[in-house]
Amino acid sequence: MSSRKGIVLAGGSGTRLYPITVGLSKQLLPLYDKPMIYYPISILMLSGIREIAIITTPQDRQQFEKALGDGSQWGIEFTWIEQPSPDGLAQAYILAEDFLAGAPSVMVLGDNVFFGHGLPVLLAEAASQTTGATVFGYRVADPQRYGIVSFDECGRVSSIVEKPPVPLSDYAVTGLYFMDGTAPAKARRVVPSARGELEITSLLEQYLEEGTLTVQKMGRGYAWFDTGTHSSLLDAGNFVRTLQMRQGLQVGSPDEIAFDQGWIDQNALVSRVNLFGKNDYGRYLAGLLK
Ligand code: TTP
Repeated sequence: MSSRKGIVLAGGSGTRLYPITVGLSKQLLPLYDKPMIYYPISILMLSGIREIAIITTPQDRQQFEKALGDGSQWGIEFTWIEQPSPDGLAQAYILAEDFLAGAPSVMVLGDNVFFGHGLPVLLAEAASQTTGATVFGYRVADPQRYGIVSFDECGRVSSIVEKPPVPLSDYAVTGLYFMDGTAPAKARRVVPSARGELEITSLLEQYLEEGTLTVQKMGRGYAWFDTGTHSSLLDAGNFVRTLQMRQGLQVGSPDEIAFDQGWIDQNALVSRVNLFGKNDYGRYLAGLLK
């Protein structure tokens, strides 16, 4: 079996963040001390993924390439894919079909931040499933805004509905999707919704019908932010700052994860330290060398 590959979906129009995102991609905006996209990339790296496709708009691709390079600084490899227009999350699997070449995948939305004790274990469990799909259910106060999963009396998933006016549960599907190699073929069967998008919920419904959809609950000990509005962007940035200041540990540092995983050596980390030298992020990385 081919090894699992990663996708970061970082296109979209970011209209809810206008006027900030009129001229800038949302996923390159700062989340406290790092570009937003560092956080979802970190999640893929924590899942053990080293081959990652980054999907951007054609006009933003160059800036992403400048911000992230080819991935070698983290011992990983980026493939660049353009999404000509924001036609929905499920389209990512069609655009990435050649890149995936039949391999299972993990897709993460470029504006999603996850944090919590035991996250690497949760990710490893999902990654160990060789067939079907695993997604994560997270309790939210405003379920009308999300894809919502409901469960039967035995705790099995009974439905998955995009932005339901009358939600059957408070469990939103987060922007992190583990899927087997059939995802691109399933994505091709999705028909555009009333809002004209290839909905990820329609793709997940196919796994549900097959009986191969697993929804893992992410409990209250986890933080999940999507950073698509002015307030949630600031909230997520403050969350990262608060944790980092209190613990003296980084949230979502691909440099640290690469070094921990043994994907880069001391010399590679030293060149990153030299790049960031004078700021707290650089000093933190320097501390890892000791
Ligand atoms: P959304 O937040 O749903 O959409 P958006 O980023 O375009 O923002 P807005 O609603 O403010 O206009 O997207 C979630 C994530 O998925 C985000 O990281 C952008 C990305 N995305 C794509 O890359 N392509 C798409 O077709 C869509 C719909 C989203």
